[in-house]
Order: sequence, then C-alpha cells, then structure tokens
Amino acid sequence: MAVVLFQLHHLIFLFVFFLSHPTPCVSIGDDQVLLEFKELLLNTSLLDSSWKKGTNPCDNNNKWFGVQCDNKNVIQALFLGGVGLLGNLDVDVLISLQGLRVVNLANNSFSGTIPDFFRLGALKSLFIDGNQFSGDIPGDFFSKMGSLRKIWFSRNKFSGKIPDSLAGLKYLLELHLENNEFTGPIPSLSQANLATINFSNNKLQGLIPQSLSKFGLNPFQGNPDLCGNQIGRACKAVASGEKSEGSGSTKWIIIGLVVVLLLVAILFKSKRKDDQFEKLEKESLDEAVKVHLNKRSMSTRTSMRSSRKGRSRSGSDMGDLVVVNDEKGIFGMPDLMKAAAEVLGNGGLGSAYKAVLGNGVSVVVKRLTETNKFNKESFDAEIRRLARIRHRNILQPLAYHYRKEEQLVVSEYIPKGSLLFLLHGDRGIAHAQLNWTSRVKIILGVASGMKFLHSEFASYDVPHGNLKSSNILLSANNEPLLTDYAFYPLLNDSQAVQSLFAYKSPEAILNQQVTPKSDVYCLGIIILEILTGKFPSQYLSNQKCGTDVAQWAWSAIEENRVSELIAPEIETEKDSLEMMEKFLHIGAACTESDHDNRIDMKEAIRRIEEITNLM
Ligand SMILES: *[C@@H]1O[C@H](CO)[C@@H](O)[C@H](O)[C@H]1NC(C)=O
Ligand SMILES: *[C@@H]1O[C@H](CO)[C@@H](O)[C@H](O)[C@H]1NC(C)=O
Ligand SMILES: *[C@@H]1O[C@H](CO)[C@@H](O)[C@H](O)[C@H]1NC(C)=O
Ligand SMILES: *[C@@H]1O[C@H](CO)[C@@H](O)[C@H](O)[C@H]1NC(C)=O
Ligand SMILES: *[C@@H]1O[C@H](CO)[C@@H](O)[C@H](O)[C@H]1NC(C)=O
Repeated sequence: MAVVLFQLHHLIFLFVFFLSHPTPCVSIGDDQVLLEFKELLLNTSLLDSSWKKGTNPCDNNNKWFGVQCDNKNVIQALFLGGVGLLGNLDVDVLISLQGLRVVNLANNSFSGTIPDFFRLGALKSLFIDGNQFSGDIPGDFFSKMGSLRKIWFSRNKFSGKIPDSLAGLKYLLELHLENNEFTGPIPSLSQANLATINFSNNKLQGLIPQSLSKFGLNPFQGNPDLCGNQIGRACKAVASGEKSEGSGSTKWIIIGLVVVLLLVAILFKSKRKDDQFEKLEKESLDEAVKVHLNKRSMSTRTSMRSSRKGRSRSGSDMGDLVVVNDEKGIFGMPDLMKAAAEVLGNGGLGSAYKAVLGNGVSVVVKRLTETNKFNKESFDAEIRRLARIRHRNILQPLAYHYRKEEQLVVSEYIPKGSLLFLLHGDRGIAHAQLNWTSRVKIILGVASGMKFLHSEFASYDVPHGNLKSSNILLSANNEPLLTDYAFYPLLNDSQAVQSLFAYKSPEAILNQQVTPKSDVYCLGIIILEILTGKFPSQYLSNQKCGTDVAQWAWSAIEENRVSELIAPEIETEKDSLEMMEKFLHIGAACTESDHDNRIDMKEAIRRIEEITNLM
C-alpha cells in the first residue's frame, strides 16, 4: 500500500484529460465527486447530514446542502457561503462537474494562496470574498476563464498586482477586489458590460485608467497612492511623458535592487539562524515556479492541513514517522507538519500531498483512511518489505506513520510526473518529449519492473495489481518508476475491487477474480496506450469516454490497418514502423479477453525483450 502514494496523481490527470476531451462524459458519480471535494474540507457539519454517498445530489426530495442543479439533474452551482468551512479546496476534483457555472465559497475561513480555480474554465461566477486567502494571484490567472461574469474576491488578504488577464474577460460584469492588499496599478479594463467594480481599501498605485472614469470616486477609496482627476489627486510623476517613463523605470530598478539586497540579507541571516525554515521557503518558491511552468494543472497550493485534521479529530498525539529508508535523509512528523504542502489529489483510497521538507527533499505523502486491514506490526512488516526493494524501475516508500484510523505513507516526489500526464496531460510539452526511442525505453523499463515484481511477489494473487499509466512515474531521463504495486494484500475485497486497476480486467469483471495474468492485461493496456497515444477507456469506470484501445488494436490487426493506430507524434519515425507493429501485436496478445488464452507475464516479457534485442 505504501506504494500507493502516487496513485493520486492519476485522478488529477484524468480530470485534465476531461478538460481537453471533446465528448462530454461522466466517469464517476457526482455524489462521489462532491464527497471527494468534501473530504479535504474541515468543519463540514452543515454538509454532513445531506451529502451522502450513493444518493443523488440533485434529488429534489433529498437535495444536498448548497448544491443547485438544472432540470436535467446537472449540477450548476455550489452555494457554500458562510457555513464555517476551512481546509483544502480540491478544485481539480470539481473539473468533472461539467455543468458547474457558479462557485460560491464566500464568508468561510479558507486560507492560503488562491486555489487553481482557473481550471474550472467554464465558470461564470466565482465568489470567494470574506475568507483569509493571501498571496499573489498569477497575472494570467483569468486567461483561461473566458466565461467569467462575476468575480468577488473582496475581504481577503490578496497581495501583489491585480492580474492583467482580467482585461481579457469579455463578459465581465462585477469585479470586487476591495479590502485586500493589492499593490501596483489598476489594469485597464474596458469591457462594455462592466457594471460594478470595487478596488477600495487596497494599496494600489498610479493613475486610474481612463476607461474606469465613469465609475466615479467611490470604488477607488482607501488607496492613498492612486491618482487621477476623478479622485481629485493629481499624479505627481506624470509631468511629461518621456521624463515620467524614465523616472518610472528608475524607480523600478531601485525597488528591484532593494528587494535583491533584502533577499540576500534574509538568506544570509537565515544561513546562520533559521536555516531550515528559509530553505524550505525557498524550495517552495522554486517548486511553485516549476509547477507553474510545467504542470500548473496539479497544484492547489495550501498548507498541510489535512494531517492536522487527523490530529484534531482524534485529539491524540500524532506519534511519529517510521523511516524505513534513509537514503533521502531522516525526517519526522514535525517536518511534515511544518512543510508547505500542496494537494496532489484525492481518490478512492485517500488523499495525497506533496511536501517540501526542511532538508530540501520533496516527498509525496499519501494519507490512507480506513484502508488497512493490518495491525501495526503487519503493516510495518509489509512496508519494510517494500522499502527493501532495489530495482531501477521501482519506487520504494521512505517512511510511514501508523495510527489505527489513519496511515500516512511517504515516498520521494518525482517532478516529471506520470506517464498518464505526459501522454494526455499538457499536450504540447508531453508529446515533444516522448519520441519513439523514449517510448520504447518506457515499455522496456515497465517490463523489467514487472518481471521483478512477478518474481518477488510470486505468491500474491496479483503481484502488482494496479499497473496503469498514472502509476508509472518518469525520471528526468524518462526511466519509468512503478508505484502503487503489491497493494493487494492490504485491502479488503470491496476496496480492492474499487481501487485496483487489475479489477478492470475481463476476468475480474466477469467473475471478480484476479490472477497474475490480470497484470498482463494491464501491461497490454499500457503498451497500447503508449503506441496509440489514446486515453484508454478502461481507466474509467463506465468506459464511456476515451478509446477502447484493446478493441481498437484487435480489429485493426484483423483488418490489416495497423499503421493507422500509431500516435501521430511517432508515426513520422518511419524506420521504426515495423517495430511499432510488433509492439502492437504484443499489446493485443496481452489484452486478449479470454484469460486462458492470454499469454502469461513470462511470455509477454520474452516477446518484448525479443524485439528490443534486435534494436
Ligand atoms: C457574505 O457576507 C457579506 C457581508 O457580511 C454579505 O453581504 C454577503 O451576502 C455574504 N455572502 C454570502 C454568500 O454569504
Ligand atoms: C464551524 O462551522 C460553524 C458553523 O457551521 C461555525 O459557527 C464555526 O465558527 C466554524 N468553526 C471554525 C473553526 O471555523
Ligand atoms: C466598495 O467597498 C467599500 C468597502 O467595503 C464600500 O464602502 C463601498 O461602498 C463599496 N463601493 C461600491 C461602489 O460598491
Ligand atoms: C472494507 O473496508 C471498507 C472501508 O473501510 C468498509 O466500508 C467495508 O465494509 C469493508 N468490507 C469488508 C467486506 O470488510
Ligand atoms: C528522443 O528523445 C530523447 C529524449 O528526449 C533524445 O535524447 C533523443 O535524441 C530523441 N531521439 C530522436 C531520434 O529524436
């Protein structure tokens, strides 16, 4: 179970997939989506009585608190204002509510930097006024939210510049930013529909844009450094165009220098004094930038509240982490609690966080609730067994924390993310990186890891049990790392059925049975996913979207049009087409639906190695 850690990446990527996928489809029930969203919230007492698994959130007789649906039972709005909520906002999970247009979280106690609401690209209204949100809002935050009409961010602690991307919101009607700590100029907003604005009580500077003059003085009050005719304060620096420009940039250079000096001073000081803390801050900054660049998709940056949730619930001591692998250093519970963390996702088995520790190591913390059927001793033995594994294609756990009602398992964070993300996430970047050579390397690495697991855990009903592209992480040079393996013995039957991909194999669907050949089926799906670049419908519970890659491969082989299947990104590598076809045949053999006729793992690996020996 240890290794389930990264399991959670996949959910997010799955949702990313939904975003970019043209056909609307629902993979898991709305009830489950909302419950996953609720899981990371705290103080949800007003929700608890109506938000019940298995019931329809839109059912008129038993409507879920705060949920508004249209007459086709599509969720349109979440009205969760003023109900005392706090905790982590898992925006990603909401992406699958495709009809969602209004999110109202006003007057609660949320804090931290702004969650990734930009991922809900169809929102029309976003109310988060009256919380404790802080920090800067990225300049391009609104650039993918072209439908926004109402933005209420007032009465928080937002700072930094007001995002320029507001200017691009064609339909903007209401903009409330009052009572924050915004600095810098007001962007030039010239939307014809703009009806209400409020910038009062911030620390805004400079000339009020001409386009906003029609709003008079009231919405700009409480900003001593704003100037312009409408508030009767002349702008000092605007004497003559050229000069002001010059002095303006000089001012910024000076400010820049001061900031740099301050940073140097702080860093220098911290070296001596509070080394750990500052390093941590810096690391999180670096990470923030990184996340911003390659996968802003997955970051809901917040503080590590859910572990605290564990503590406050039980009221007991958290105990400590048991480090089972000290290659990345020794760390303890306090390090985790202190670390800035971001939610990676939240799935059937629990939620996952990324945390940057004081020693600079980034880890993924997976929180498991009620999943474990072992007592502490057996759990310990199991995790230690996983931690002893040394294989270049397998990621081991570093540490765990055990309490009866909750377990945390810690593994190293792999920045590049999962194969699922690289194949289907952010198309431009991902595809460019995965040429045919890299894809073969990934298939080989996965095969090698599976070979190892099938000998190491030969006695298990299913040695890996959860092989899918979200559980294959890629190192910087595209070496695959398997996670989430050997999980089967820790789960009770119903959980295993729900959470392990091996249970999506035909034999499991038919008679709830898994065998080592179920892993072969999963391997086949991976191979076909890599070859076709398509998102396998097998990963979704109702299989209504994505591509049935197995079916596709089989019929293509039958109809002799194999080359049509190859992902466009690699089909240009003509010299390799023959090899691709061979892999396609292996993928098809692995996904043979008749369990008895399916090749076994030994044979699958033999065939893969046979091809690559000829490379
Ligand atoms: C939030 O509080 C403000 C001020 O008290 C109030 O005007 C507004 O209606 C509230 N909004 C919600 C959604 O509770
Ligand atoms: C929890 O919610 C209740 C209302 O449901 C509210 O009165 C209380 O202040 C909240 N607690 C916290 C810590 O925000
Ligand atoms: C803007 O907000 C301030 C502070 O809450 C309030 O006094 C003022 O009336 C508001 N103005 C408008 C136009 O909404
Ligand atoms: C398996 O675990 C889940 C979650 O703890 C529980 O709800 C369910 O009743 C368990 N099922 C069995 C058969 O023990
Ligand atoms: C394929 O990609 C890898 C890693 O990005 C690179 O090193 C290699 O040169 C590429 N090969 C070809 C044929 O483009």
